[in-house]
Order: sequence, then structure tokens, then C-alpha cells
Amino acid sequence: MSSIKVIGGGKLKGETKIQGSKNAALPIIAATVLNKGVTILKNCPKILDVFHMIKVLNELGCMATWEGNTLIVDTTTITSTKVSESSVQKMRSSILFLGALLGRSHEVSIAYPGGCSIGKRPIDFHLDSIKSMNVSQEFLGEDKDIIYCHTDKIIGTDVFLKFPSVGATQNVILTAVLAEGVTRIYNAAREPEVLELCNFLIEAGARICGRGTAFIEIEGVRRLHDVEYRLPADRIVAGTYMAAVAAVGGEVILHDTPVGQLDSVIRVLDKIGCSIRTTDEYMRISSNKRPLPYGILKTQPYPGFPTDMQSQLMTVLSIADGKSTIIEEIFESRFQNVSELKRMGANITESKNKAVISGVKRLKGAQVVAHDLRAGAALVIAGIAAEGETIVRNANSIERGYEDICRDLSILGANVQYCSDNII
Ligand code: EPZ
Repeated sequence: MSSIKVIGGGKLKGETKIQGSKNAALPIIAATVLNKGVTILKNCPKILDVFHMIKVLNELGCMATWEGNTLIVDTTTITSTKVSESSVQKMRSSILFLGALLGRSHEVSIAYPGGCSIGKRPIDFHLDSIKSMNVSQEFLGEDKDIIYCHTDKIIGTDVFLKFPSVGATQNVILTAVLAEGVTRIYNAAREPEVLELCNFLIEAGARICGRGTAFIEIEGVRRLHDVEYRLPADRIVAGTYMAAVAAVGGEVILHDTPVGQLDSVIRVLDKIGCSIRTTDEYMRISSNKRPLPYGILKTQPYPGFPTDMQSQLMTVLSIADGKSTIIEEIFESRFQNVSELKRMGANITESKNKAVISGVKRLKGAQVVAHDLRAGAALVIAGIAAEGETIVRNANSIERGYEDICRDLSILGANVQYCSDNII
């Protein structure tokens, strides 16, 4: 178990580069299975979730090697269509191998992904949609928690998603790419990571239109081909560092920021007092006063305000000059940070999916726990804003999505470092 020690105080200043996108990399790594050949992924982040996906590729008989931040994946041969329970329990995004292995081998055996700290996270939309594509599903094992899907032919059909689920949209696309006929997804997720998956698949020979919209149409093709693809920068990592400037003040330049994917975050940070200037290559964000309160902030599917930025904004609003309300509309238990921030002196009351935050002048350092990667990053920001020393435990949950948050924030002048639990 690792921890991060933060000594609070001081504004942020300097420049850093934003890493490749975790949530674009994970579905695209699963998608490489659809091609019997080699895929080259540039700007791939070296994070725990990517390492987990590589482990699943190895379990399937595929190879993956690194050259710097370029991941070279060889899926010429598949020796298994079983995704182990430990892999799925460790990392829910392994569920995206469901559609990819069905597309490649017309069968897959995969364990039910468990819930996590932010919610139960069922996969009913995934299973119901894929079943309608001429795929039979059986639930095996003592606890019926192993899903075995198989088909002699995947047949394209119309899929109506009850909610624009990112993962369900991606799994249907992966199942449909090599299917017979046309699959139309209604109420598809519009997140940039769905668009990126479609861009990658089109470059590999898939026939997809409507990418990035709520209506996506996939015409099945016979095979894909090798492709070299550069992953975009991570919009949530960029948003996290923007929130850090909003919380502690200073002036920072973020290179490689996917500016076009951050409209809703920029609007919120602008409203609470940040000044933000953007060019095609970078973003300059500065703040020289205490954050203003926000009023009511609701998380929404893209292009609304992202749930993955909710914890970071809660940290910023906990020291704002007034009262704000956050309403979490996507996950049923994504307020784990409330108790941690209160340990640091924040004044927050929560009921169901609503948190009312009365800003305090200053937080004080404390020992806190990271319950998920975004909540952990938000606690690091809280530690920088606080007086004194903060220890963020369970920091390896942060490493699931942040290549090196201590490296990035230290370059900007923050006093943050990894430390092992036993010296605290
Ligand atoms: C993706 O998760 C992201 N993960 C999450 O980021 C992100 O928070 C989420 O989308 C929402 O934007 C990756 O891209 C790897 P959903 P996903 O399916 O696909 C319910 C991070 O911090 N639902 O859009 O699992 C579900 O319970 C992570 O990087 C069903 O009920 O999200 C949730 O309440 C955290 N049944 C809502 O829909 C289903 O079959 C949205 O989930 C599927 C989802």
C-alpha cells in the first residue's frame, strides 16, 4: 500500500504536459483483439489499469511490449477466450473484452465485474443489447457469476440504450464491427472516449458513422487491419490539474490539453474565478484569489459536467467564499470524499446524491484515504490547499489513472511525494 505525503501551502507555477487518456486507452486495447495482427498505440499512459488490460491480453495468448509510451500489441493468435475472475474483479474495464472476443471468436467467458466504491455498476445494458445481436448468454459457476456468451453469427440490429452508458455503447460497437449487417445504437454515449474508439476502429477498417453523437451506425465488415494510432491526452487529468490551480492559486500552462473536450469544466472554473486562455496546443490557467461559490453543480453525461471531475470540484468548493451544492446524477455513491474532507475541516452536509458545501477559509492537514482514483486526486489537491501535512493513504488507487501525480504537481511547485505506509 503506498501513500502520498503533501505539505500544504504555496501557489502553483510552471508548465507540465498531460498524459495519454486512460479512458480512451482501455477500450482501444480491448479493441485490438478484433484484428488478427499488430496494433501500435502511441501516447499510451503507463498506469495500473493499462497494465491490467495487458495482463488480460497475455491471458488470451496475445503479446504486448512497450517502447517508451508506445504500446505494441500483437493479437495475431488468440489461445483462450476466457477472461479470469481476478482480472475482472481487479479492473471493471476488462468487461470490454466481452464485445471484442465475441467479435473475434464468437465466444467469451467472463466473470461479472463487481461494483466498486462509487456504485453497484451493473452491466444489464451491455448484456441486453448484445443478446439482441443473436448472441446466447448462460450464467455458469456456483454463484452464476461467470457469463458465457456464444454465437454462430453476430447479426446487426437496432439497440436502444435506456441510459447513454459509456461502457455499454463501447461493448455494442465492439460486438458490431465484424457482425453481419448493420447495428444502430440509439441514445449512445457521446463521451470523447466513445468517439476515440470509433476513430481507432475506422482507421483499422471498420465502417462507423455518427461517432460522437447519440446515434451511431455500424456496418459490419469481414476483417480489420493493422493500424498505428495516437491516443489523445486525458481530459480528466487535465481537469484535475486545472482544479488544483483553482484551489491554491497561481499560473500554470498545461501542454497537450484536449481543450475541445473540456468546455463544461472550463465554464465552471471560469465562473468560480479562474482565468483560462487556450490555444490549439496548450491551456493557460490562473487564479489569484479564493474561489467563488458555484450555486448548483450537477454531473451529467457528456457534454455536461463530468462525474469524474466531481470530487475535484468538491475540494475546490470546500474552500470557496460561500455556499455551493453538488448533485451527483451518474453514480449512486460517489460522495466518499465528504467524510475525508470533513476530517480536514470542510463543512459539507450530504443527503442521497446532494452535497451542500459551505466554504471554509482554509483546510487543515490530516490523514485521509483515497476511495477511488478521482477522489484520491481530489484529496491531494486538498492537501496542497491545506495548512500543514496531509497523508493520502491507498494512493495506488490514484496510480490506476494518473501516470505520476506527484511528478506532475511537483513540477508545478507543489510539495507532494510518495511514501510507504509503514514510515507514517
Ligand atoms: C465510464 O465508466 C468511465 N470509465 C468512468 O470513469 C466514468 O465515470 C463513467 O464512464 C461515466 O462517465 C471508463 O471509461 C473506463 P457508464 P462506465 O456505463 O462505462 C449505470 C474514472 O474515474 N449503468 O456510463 O462504467 C452505471 O451504474 C471512471 O476514470 C447501468 O445501470 O460508466 C452508472 O450509474 C470512473 N447498467 C451509469 O449507468 C449498465 O449496464 C453510467 O455508467 C451500465 C451502466
